[in-house]
Amino acid sequence: MELSLLPLVLLLISSVHSAHTEEKPKPKVSIKPAQHVFRGEKVTLRCDIYDEGVTSWRYSWYKEDSDSVFSDQQEHTFMSVTESDAGKYSCDGFKGSRWSQKSDAVTLTVSDPRAVLSVSPQNWLTEGDPVTLICEVHSFSTGWTFSWFTLTVSPDQYDQLSDSSRGAGGNYTVSSVALNHTGVYVCRAEREKSVYKTPFSNTQLLWVTGVSPPVSLIVSPSRTQHFTSVSLSLSCEDQSNSTGWRVRRYTDAGRLEDCSLRGGSTCTFSSTVPSHTGVYWCESEFGEKHHPVNITVHSGVILESPVHPVTEGDHLILRCLYQHTTPANLRADFYKDGSLIQNQTTEMNITTVSKSHEGFYYCKHPTRGESPKSWISVRGGSNEHCLFLSESQISVLNILSSVLAACPYLLVTVMLVFEYCRMRGKT
Ligand SMILES: *[C@@H]1O[C@H](CO)[C@@H](O)[C@H](O)[C@H]1NC(C)=O
Ligand SMILES: *[C@@H]1O[C@H](CO)[C@@H](O)[C@H](O)[C@H]1NC(C)=O
Ligand SMILES: *[C@@H]1O[C@H](CO)[C@@H](O)[C@H](O)[C@H]1NC(C)=O
Ligand SMILES: *[C@@H]1O[C@H](CO)[C@@H](O)[C@H](O)[C@H]1NC(C)=O
Ligand SMILES: *[C@@H]1O[C@H](CO)[C@@H](O)[C@H](O)[C@H]1NC(C)=O
Ligand SMILES: *[C@@H]1O[C@H](CO)[C@@H](O)[C@H](O)[C@H]1NC(C)=O
Repeated sequence: MELSLLPLVLLLISSVHSAHTEEKPKPKVSIKPAQHVFRGEKVTLRCDIYDEGVTSWRYSWYKEDSDSVFSDQQEHTFMSVTESDAGKYSCDGFKGSRWSQKSDAVTLTVSDPRAVLSVSPQNWLTEGDPVTLICEVHSFSTGWTFSWFTLTVSPDQYDQLSDSSRGAGGNYTVSSVALNHTGVYVCRAEREKSVYKTPFSNTQLLWVTGVSPPVSLIVSPSRTQHFTSVSLSLSCEDQSNSTGWRVRRYTDAGRLEDCSLRGGSTCTFSSTVPSHTGVYWCESEFGEKHHPVNITVHSGVILESPVHPVTEGDHLILRCLYQHTTPANLRADFYKDGSLIQNQTTEMNITTVSKSHEGFYYCKHPTRGESPKSWISVRGGSNEHCLFLSESQISVLNILSSVLAACPYLLVTVMLVFEYCRMRGKT
């Protein structure tokens, strides 16, 4: 025998041998890009069978333990995968009378994670406060880019913030909030290197109270908590020009809407119901926002607390009211931040308010029940803004006046502020 024929002969012997033992090849399943993918991604399942001498297998794909064939391609592609495509997949193949074994099952997992939006430290703010909006995807914490939106019309019209990229890492921080940051925010997360985007997150309201707004929100009756089935009105009154302001609100149901009728600046309820609970504010046609107030409609016991922030040094009286008695005043216990501060009294007097009085208040009657909680915010006395000028030397003013000499308007403003502070100092 010629030496060159030897390999061929060996090959023949070996293939006869393997045909005798009938060892079936076992296919291998592969998934691209990964076994764990996000909704909407393109996913390819591939079945490979290695068997010497046999090519062009006919393939069959099975899902879970079913015997029915859902695809007969070597590669099966889900162009846009959904949760219903998740499951265990296996394949086998045949050619003529030759069958492969069934492959091991491979599990495809499809997730649709949610972006969750929270606010730190809190969503009720005073002009100048810092705030951070935090967007997170809980089940897969890394590999996301975040974008930021405000709700413009309920239920689902959003505008991307012009500086949305500032919060791409998940935290959108404002070091000093302005009035116009009042609004309803949402975020969404996007997978880097993939088409996947989460749905929009839950909404979060930020409400910012101003120090000296050009418009007043008049609430009647003047308190934050209200009984059910009574009348209630909220009205935006511009000191100079009452047109152009409307009352907007964000209710507990997550709806952002106009409350005043078209063109009007007053919002009126002839008979309140709990679903009127929400944050209400004045908004101008230019999007300026003022005086957010947290209105609560509740049946039974309510706390009578001021609508607007109180000023340091003011006298504050809190009462506990009950819907079904006249007069409505109850002898009740008053709580601040969860601790009892006044026992069995018809009204709670705080004769000189200080910053330490800021907090959540509610009242409780042993049999009639307790009121919802309301935040009472305390603002520095108005002299605070004048401290710098009244304590500084007149020379500061002299320097300022020479710097500003070229600018009479600014000079007059500075002089007026100075004079105002001096007058306040005297009173
Ligand atoms: C986001 O803000 C929170 C709260 O202020 C902070 O704990 C967290 O470390 C911040 N994360 C990043 C990525 O800056
Ligand atoms: C809010 O007001 C500031 C200063 O007037 C302005 O620079 C900013 O663009 C406003 N932001 C929005 C969301 O209107
Ligand atoms: C009040 O506002 C309206 C609309 O913005 C304007 O047309 C009108 O001139 C203003 N009136 C005063 C007295 O400023
Ligand atoms: C509240 O009043 C009750 C009865 O008058 C008294 O026993 C209790 O010590 C008082 N609690 C406080 C914190 O004043
Ligand atoms: C609270 O203050 C008002 C006004 O100073 C006073 O009339 C009232 O008696 C005080 N109430 C209590 C319980 O001290
Ligand atoms: C706003 O009102 C809601 C509903 O009564 C209440 O649960 C919440 O504590 C209030 N928040 C503030 C900051 O007053």
